[in-house]
Amino acid sequence: MNNYIEIKDLSSVASAVKEAIALKSNPYKYKKLGTHKTLVMLFFNASLRTRLSTEKAAKHLGMDVIVLNVTDAWQLEFESGVVMSLNTSEHVKEAAQVISQYADILAVRAFPSLTDKQKDLSEWILSSFIRYATVPIINMESATGHPLQALADAITIEEIKRTPKPKVVLSWAPHPKALPHAVANSFIEMMQTIDVQFSITHPEGYELNPDIVKDTPVIYDQDEALKGADFVYVKNWSNYTDYGKITSQDPQWMMTQEKLGAAQFMHCLPVRRNVVVEDAVLDSEQSIVIAQSNNRTFAAQLVLKKILENG
Ligand code: CP
Repeated sequence: MNNYIEIKDLSSVASAVKEAIALKSNPYKYKKLGTHKTLVMLFFNASLRTRLSTEKAAKHLGMDVIVLNVTDAWQLEFESGVVMSLNTSEHVKEAAQVISQYADILAVRAFPSLTDKQKDLSEWILSSFIRYATVPIINMESATGHPLQALADAITIEEIKRTPKPKVVLSWAPHPKALPHAVANSFIEMMQTIDVQFSITHPEGYELNPDIVKDTPVIYDQDEALKGADFVYVKNWSNYTDYGKITSQDPQWMMTQEKLGAAQFMHCLPVRRNVVVEDAVLDSEQSIVIAQSNNRTFAAQLVLKKILENG
């Protein structure tokens, strides 16, 4: 594997999930693979899980790790041919090449603006690093996708499922802040890839990118959608059509114990208690959010291992 930008970069999701589960039982088996190799992680946005789990994964493989919060560095310019007489001090053309000298693998987190749809869809930050860096790139959540989270979610479902083809529902939830579409997008793409019965439920008007949803069933009646679910993945996203806006905060969409029924509760975290999901769900044995976050390590380790093996 050259890069991990999207789920499609995995030649086989089924094999990746299987291999990640095997890594979990013997995390230091490939300790020598990353010796004298460095992972540089660039964060344009905050992180708890991605930062720690990816560093842990790299260390399982014997890699050195450097983390840079980009706000601590010179402000980067991404436009070509621009007169840099305002706030930006360094162009990504130089920065990406410079960082590549210190890194064997470069991982980037860069959220969307949620104000300029076309710019976000172009993945202007991640694409610039793919274009100008000279080392493999890992997407640690971009404007439109979070493939490391989706791989961890697939691992978690594989480990916990009690039927060969479980029913999985992605359910929108209210949130006071406008949030990106990335987690939902990648989760949808992952569920379309693995062997599950998958549907999405959200209020009318909260349709996601049709190029991602494709023919996945969308059921506007949340109660109807949740009937018989084995896994319920709850996530807020801002309006995609009225781009980046909050057009509903309907508390009726918060996940409750009653709505969840016998299903397992999934969320990528961080999560706002009693806004997105009630305490009773998160504090119950049906919540598998901690297992999901643990699997972030092994999703990242699988990806790093594949890239290191590629030389
Ligand atoms: N789920 C996730 O990516 O968490 P962080 O934003 O804390 O990294």
